[in-house]
Amino acid sequence: MPSFQRHVFVCTNERAPDHPRGSCKLKGSVEVRDTLKAELKARGLAKLVRANNAGCLDQCENGITVVVYPEQVWYGHVTVADIPEIIERHLMKGEIVERLLLPDQPHLGDKKQLPALEVT
Ligand code: FES
Repeated sequence: MPSFQRHVFVCTNERAPDHPRGSCKLKGSVEVRDTLKAELKARGLAKLVRANNAGCLDQCENGITVVVYPEQVWYGHVTVADIPEIIERHLMKGEIVERLLLPDQPHLGDKKQLPALEVT
């Protein structure tokens, strides 16, 4: 069984276009997920980091929503263009990408630095 160091969940929930909360899929989350998968593979990280689909993460107004586990860092308004930065800064260096950080994450405290991936 693979032993992933991180799981990155991308909301791919879809709602009707006229739904008041919107949905991540209609904002392009499948492309975000596919880009994440491709970029992890290109960097040789696909065995360390799993890109997962997620159902609605209840942050629809802030979508596209992405959460990194186990550290539980929630990012919002994520686009395809943000994926390299999330991989290179958050995953590879352990730096929180503050410009994408959703508010109200008290479990993070004042942390700016998290454990980086252990790449052997
Ligand atoms: S639809 Fe993505 S967080 Fe709700």
